[in-house]
Amino acid sequence: MNSPAYQSGFGNQFASEALPGALPVGRNSPQTCPYGLYAEQLSGTAFTAPRADNRRSWLYRIRPSAMHQPFERMPDGRITSDFGALPTPPNQLRWNPLPLPDAPADFVEGIVTMAGNGDPHVQTGAAVHLYACNRSMTRRSFYNADGELLIVPQLGRHRFVTEMGVIEAEPQEIVLIPRGVRFRLELLDEAARGYICENFGANFRLPDLGPIGSNGLANPRDFLTPVAAYEDLEEEHELVAKFMGHLWSARMDHSPLDVVAWHGNYAPCKYDLRRFNAIGSISYDHPDPSIFLVLHSASDTPGVSSIDFVIFPPRILAMQDSFRPPWFHRNIASEFMGLIHGAYDAKAEGFVPGGASLHNSMSGHGPDAETFEKASAADTSQPHYITDTMAFMFETRCVLRPTREALASPELQADYYQCWQGLRKHFHPEQP
Ligand SMILES: [Fe+2]
Repeated sequence: MNSPAYQSGFGNQFASEALPGALPVGRNSPQTCPYGLYAEQLSGTAFTAPRADNRRSWLYRIRPSAMHQPFERMPDGRITSDFGALPTPPNQLRWNPLPLPDAPADFVEGIVTMAGNGDPHVQTGAAVHLYACNRSMTRRSFYNADGELLIVPQLGRHRFVTEMGVIEAEPQEIVLIPRGVRFRLELLDEAARGYICENFGANFRLPDLGPIGSNGLANPRDFLTPVAAYEDLEEEHELVAKFMGHLWSARMDHSPLDVVAWHGNYAPCKYDLRRFNAIGSISYDHPDPSIFLVLHSASDTPGVSSIDFVIFPPRILAMQDSFRPPWFHRNIASEFMGLIHGAYDAKAEGFVPGGASLHNSMSGHGPDAETFEKASAADTSQPHYITDTMAFMFETRCVLRPTREALASPELQADYYQCWQGLRKHFHPEQP
C-alpha cells in the first residue's frame, strides 16, 4: 500500500490527475472528456456565493454518481439528528471514553451521537458524535448530505479512501470531509476511535487573524489535500447516505470511488494539530480560548461563529502574577471538549484521553479544586511548560442538547460535579 500524496493549502484551487492528461484543458465540460470519463460538478456553496466563499470542484470519473439503485431506509444505529427528544439539563457533564466494540463494527456502525443543535433541514447547527470501530469498511461507501464532517481521531491510524484521493491520519491529526463527498474508512490498526463534529452550516474555514498578522494559528500550507486516486471495481457495492437525519442504503454494481482527475477548491483535507502555532499572553492574564481557534463555521451574525474548533496544544505559559489555568467562567457559547492525548491542564483527574465533557451555555465550570490550589501557589516568575497534551473543543453558538444515548450512557460520570465541591472558602473580610 503506497503512502498517499498530498497538495498543500486550505481551500486552494487544486488540480490533480491520476492518469496523464485526464484533466480537460480550458473547459470544465468538453464535448468528450479524455479517457472516456464523465464530467461532474460538485458544489459546496450556492452557485452565486462570493468568490472568497465559493466552493466547487469538477470531477472526471468512470461513471456518474447518479448510477445506483434507489435508496431505502436502513437502521440509524446510534446516529440521530433529533436533539429535542429530552429536556436539556444545565448540569456539567463528563464521560469516560467510548468502549471499543465487542462485535465487528465499521466506522458507520461505530458512530454514536452525543449532542447537537439546529437541524440539517435548515442547514444550521451541529452534531457531536463519538465513534469506535474495529473493522474497515469493505464494499461500502458513505456520504453525508446533512453536513461537513470534522473528524478527530483519538486512537489508531485511519485511512480515508475518498472520491478525491486517499488521506491517512493518526491521532493529533484532523480530517475534514466536505458535505457529499463519498468515502470509506479503512483501519490501519486493530481499532479506531475518535470524535466527529458534523457541521450542518457554512463550511469550515480558517479564521481571520486581525492584529496577529499574516502568520500564526493554523497556517494554510499545513493543510493537506489528497491527489487524485481512483479504483475501477465492478462488484456489488453499498452506498450509505446520511440524509435528513437518517441513514439510507443503495446498491450499486461498482465502486463510487472512481474519480480519475479533479480540480477545484471543494475537497477533503487533513491537518496535523502539532503544527498549530499557539499565540498567547506574554505579560499577564489568561487569554480567551478564541486565541486557539483552528477552524470555524460562520453564522449569519458577523463575528459570531456557529462552531469554533479550538485546541489546547503544548505551549509555554509565561504570564506573570496571573492565575495561569483557565479561570472559572460561564459563557454564552456551549463547549464540548475532548482529550486526544496526554493530560488537560485544568483538570487533575477524571478527564482522560478519549473522554469528553459538555459545559452548556451559562453553566459554571473551571479548574477543579486541586488545580486551583496548585495554580494559586505557583511561582509565576518562571515559565511553565505544558507538554504532552492535546485537548480540543467544539464550541457552538447554540446549546448542545445531549441525546438519550449520551444521558443514559454507562460512561457518564455521575460524580463529575464533585470536582468543584472541594474548593475551599478563602474569603477573610479582615485580610485584604
Ligand atoms: Fe469552558
